[in-house]
Amino acid sequence: MKMNEQLGISLRAVDKEIENMVKFDKDVPRSSELARSIVELIRSGGKRVRPLMVIVGSRFGPAPDERKVWRLAAAAEFIHAASLIHDDVIDDSPVRRGDRAMHIKLGINRAIHVGNYMSARVIELISVYSADRERYAYDLSSLVTTQLCLGEYQQLSHLFDYDVTIEQYLEKSKNKTAQLMAACLRIGAQSAGADDDTANLLYSFGEKLGMAFQIRDDILDFTQSSEKLGKPAGSDLRSGQVTLPVLYALQDDALAPLIRAVNANTPAEYTDEVIAAIQSCGALQRTEALSAQFLQEAQQIIDRLSAYPAHRDLQVLLSFFSGRDK
Ligand code: FPP
Ligand code: MG
Repeated sequence: MKMNEQLGISLRAVDKEIENMVKFDKDVPRSSELARSIVELIRSGGKRVRPLMVIVGSRFGPAPDERKVWRLAAAAEFIHAASLIHDDVIDDSPVRRGDRAMHIKLGINRAIHVGNYMSARVIELISVYSADRERYAYDLSSLVTTQLCLGEYQQLSHLFDYDVTIEQYLEKSKNKTAQLMAACLRIGAQSAGADDDTANLLYSFGEKLGMAFQIRDDILDFTQSSEKLGKPAGSDLRSGQVTLPVLYALQDDALAPLIRAVNANTPAEYTDEVIAAIQSCGALQRTEALSAQFLQEAQQIIDRLSAYPAHRDLQVLLSFFSGRDK
């Protein structure tokens, strides 16, 4: 059974809510390139993990307001989708969800503006919730979006930097990936009137899942076939991203100088050899262990929330993240 089915949430309804974010913008004609591009992007698929997290979060409060929860859920996906449009430009990546990336279809300038429109539209819609007791809604449009940009900036400013620390890697991963997931669960809970302790535990749970997700993603770059990844294996290192497997491999004195020699101009054959050495030095197992530790910590949070029937939904999310095959 699919994750959304296990959670009793219709993906079709989620997608409709997301599409409405642009369809009900009176300033944007539905037939415009902007509206059509966004609808096409939404229809190209995705598991809607973040909207599902908002909805699951709302099940921890005494007074879930369907209208508000679904709006926030759609807003979360809008921010995520906008960030991926920009990310594909930055990474010079031509494919997204099996379709041509937005910047390939529209050109870079227009694609950037579609992304900008989407993140601004989230602020516009969320401003409805401007009462003091609803200010948590701004976490999505302010805090989290800022952190996404910061995480991406941290990543870009450490390309081919082999002196980056594990702490810096974890901080970047938190900003780029984990905080949005964490905020989704907390915002859902707060919108339903959950108490602060519960909302913060859910935030922590989402953060642990997000960290495990990003770390696993960095492992997959070394372990999955090019066909599955949609890009050559080891692409992260080739493009200068010093991820956790590389940081662990750098602790091997014999391997470190070979890795440090990889830069933007290194011939592909040399990088291939370095990637093979990283794959066989035990670094991937150590990386996997850290990912498993985050998942275990997430499990401990579920145990603390076992008084809520919705803790079973957290278990569904955790199983999805544990068995994830990107
Ligand atoms: C995917 O990274 C990218 C992110 C998780 C965040 C990117 C954020 C920005 C570009 C900041 C801009 C934000 C907004 C809201 C306009 P990845 O390249 O590791 O993953 P991939 O393999 O899916 O591309
Ligand atoms: Mg990318």
